[in-house]
Order: sequence, then C-alpha cells, then structure tokens
Amino acid sequence: MKVFNDKVSLQKAIAPMRANGTIGFVPTMGALHQGHLALIKQAALENPCTVVSIFVNPTQFNNPNDLEAYPRTLDADVALIKSNIGENVVVFAPTVSEMYDEKLSTEKFNFEGLDQQMEGAFRPGHFDGVGTIVSKLFELVKPDRAYFGEKDFQQLQIIRKLVSLKKMQVEIVGCPIVRTESGLARSSRNQLLSEEERNQASIIYRVLNEVKKRFSGTNIAELKQYVEESFASHTLFRLDYFEITDEATLHPIKEYDKQQNYRAFIAVYAGDVRLIDNMQLN
Ligand code: PAF
Repeated sequence: MKVFNDKVSLQKAIAPMRANGTIGFVPTMGALHQGHLALIKQAALENPCTVVSIFVNPTQFNNPNDLEAYPRTLDADVALIKSNIGENVVVFAPTVSEMYDEKLSTEKFNFEGLDQQMEGAFRPGHFDGVGTIVSKLFELVKPDRAYFGEKDFQQLQIIRKLVSLKKMQVEIVGCPIVRTESGLARSSRNQLLSEEERNQASIIYRVLNEVKKRFSGTNIAELKQYVEESFASHTLFRLDYFEITDEATLHPIKEYDKQQNYRAFIAVYAGDVRLIDNMQLN
C-alpha cells in the first residue's frame, strides 16, 4: 500500500489513476476505527481509486491539551486499512508544515449560521479550521466523491455548504453512524474512556432512541427536560447540550412541522472526554 507524506508525490501518484475513473476520498485524523473503515469500504466500492488522508489538523482544535492528547497511531492505521480494505488504497499522511507552510493561518468562512450553534458555539473557530483543511485537501486530491460520517452531522452540513460556497466539483457522501453493540457511536475519543465509562455510555443512545419515540407527541420543552433529568443524577456522565434542530438549517426547532426533517443532537462529558451523537427523528 502506498503511503505519501508530501503533496507532490501524492499528486504524481494520483494523476494516472484519474484516467482510470473516479477518485474517492476519505479525510480523517487517524486513530481509525470501524466507523472510518465503513467510509473507506464505501469509497473503495464506488470508486476505482480511494485516497485516505490521515492528518491531525491543529487549526480545528481550540484547546491545546485536546490537540496534544489526540491519539496518533499512523502505523496501526495503515495496518488496519491494509488488512480490512486491501493494498489498493492510497494513504496521505502529511506533516503540519507540509499542509500549512510556516504559518498556521485559518481561512474565515461564512457558513450562513450552520456553525453558530452546538459544536460551533462550544468550539469557536473550529469549523473555520475544518473548512481550511478540507479545502486544502480537496484542492490537492481533487476527488470526485468525498465521504463523511453522520456522527459529525453538523460538520457534514458545513462541508456541503463549503463545497457550494467554493463551487467545488465534488460529491459529498454522508454515511450512517457506526455503533458498538451497545449503541455507543464509534469515535476515536472512545479509546480515552475508562472501561466503566465505555460500558455505561450506551445511555446516550438509549436517551436518543427514547427522544425519537416520544418526538411527534411530546412538546419540545418536555423532551429537553426528559434528557436533562436522564443525566442529572448520573455519576459518570454530564450533559453538555441537547438540541433538536431542522436537519438542513440546523436552526433549533420551535414548533414541530411535519413537512420538515428534524434531528436530535447531544454532547456529553465523561470526565474530560466529550462525546457527541445525533439521531434523525422523523
Ligand atoms: O472529521 C474529521 O476527522 C476531521 O474534522 C476532518 C474532516 C478530517 C478534518 O480534519
């Protein structure tokens, strides 16, 4: 399997493949798990050439401790792709200076409000950092299709907006959340949880399922109260936010309108580890 660290070699390797058909692209920050593998598998099924980037992007972290603690497991990631998908994937694992030259500058975007709530409110500048690196990677790889998980649903909608703002010729493919048997959404951060936290984290999925069940018949304030109460006395988890929004605009729901699609979003702390999840409601 080919692993490239610099842009020029990557572009040289991809150029002849472009002539054979479409290029599928899966941008990641490494510490790969079943969720990433599902994206890579789908890309490999739908495109003759698949590129996976592994790059922990500093400009999307607003907490230096979080950036430092983020797991970096390149050798294991490459081995995982090799054993699960095969040799036929191109991996791009650049250094920070390869992607940013000398200055870690971030492009400022107008995501038309998609970045103002939930993860955007909690992590100011985060989505400018994501937009910056995804733009750089798209310009480099020039994929026909790029694959993103719905676990980061706000990010997925923002990337769709980015592509339309920049008029990029790439199809954004959203892929379903991959969960453990207990329902915990797969995430690189799960490996930072203690065993007990991991065992009990299925509460997040159970609460989201219950919200979905109650959604059409219960008023929103009562639903929010139900979620708050579910976490209020929990010894391991602390609710950060719970929100129900319109799926397209990500504006918080005011009144249930059958014509719209809604999604519930949740962020929960287990100690210092922040877990996010979401679920389509109707
Ligand atoms: O979802 C991620 O892993 C990252 O935000 C992404 C899209 C690879 C950009 O760094």
